[in-house]
Amino acid sequence: MSSTPVPRVRPRRLRETPALRRLVSETRLHPAELVLPIFVREGVSAPVPIGSMPGVVQHSLASLPEAIDQAAAAGVGGVMLFGVPEVRDARGSGATDPDGILNVATTVAAEASAGRLVVQTDLCLDEFTDHGHCGVLDERGRVDNDATLERYTSMALAQARAGSELLGLSGMMDGQVAAVRDALDDAGRQDTAILAYSAKYASAYYGPFREAVESTLEGDRRSYQLDPGNRREGLREAMIDIDEGADVVMVKPAGSYLDVLADVAAASEVPVWAYQVSGEYSMIEAAAAHGWIDRKRAVIESVRGIRRAGADAVLTYWAVELAEWIRNGDVA
Ligand code: PBG
Repeated sequence: MSSTPVPRVRPRRLRETPALRRLVSETRLHPAELVLPIFVREGVSAPVPIGSMPGVVQHSLASLPEAIDQAAAAGVGGVMLFGVPEVRDARGSGATDPDGILNVATTVAAEASAGRLVVQTDLCLDEFTDHGHCGVLDERGRVDNDATLERYTSMALAQARAGSELLGLSGMMDGQVAAVRDALDDAGRQDTAILAYSAKYASAYYGPFREAVESTLEGDRRSYQLDPGNRREGLREAMIDIDEGADVVMVKPAGSYLDVLADVAAASEVPVWAYQVSGEYSMIEAAAAHGWIDRKRAVIESVRGIRRAGADAVLTYWAVELAEWIRNGDVA
């Protein structure tokens, strides 16, 4: 009988003490690589809680500066603004109106930030259309790609004028990055940068977001957002956007698409970000509220996993709280 061999290779050595584990950690988190999505609702005087996203609110224009201050104080790298308009129509007119909620909020946020963090805007029509689609519809009710590009270029100029530094193109129309880049350049806005939501999947995890922006959708988004089963196509979309001039590309949602994220991170010459979306947030919050999961550990692990897979920065509704934990030394 041979005795059990004594292992010579012992990876556990480096896990022995907190100091050793800290020293060999491969993925560190920093507040500057976190981006906070912020909803701003028209016509309210105080923040309105979002039922399906406990802890997240629709801000009023009045409460927005304080939210920006809090994010800046926590060291968060940027904010991504979404507008919740009072009135919607087929063309999403509020998106291009300089007095539309998102454009007004952008100016308010840029003033409050005073350069402490990067003010970014969601560039998409779904919050502004009455049918809830990310573009305008043709006479047969389909999302009209090229007619939508015209709306996006107007929206881009309105957002840039309002003070957005980074335009988050989230509509998944073909040619949207090139169209917006050209329009910005023609208008002398060469310095306004483009964040392309390149690999944006048709996901169930956007569910709570619909409540956050009070949007009801007729049909679904499968004719423009990616099929959740498609990995190669996610990489292709990112490569096309880089070609068209995207300054940053993004994968969305994050947690269920870490393979796509890793592929894009390996191939991209520009920064790669990921969006931990509303449903990813709500699932952890709901499980934690039941006492089924350790909330803080799950939040940290979920964001760390996204960073580990290759994201240079992460959009997350926990940005401020997580940044504060990091600053307090609570994140090993
Ligand atoms: C489009 C947009 C959506 C999200 C961000 N930008 C909704 C969608 O495409 O259906 C979802 C974000 C989230 O779920 O947190 N304006």
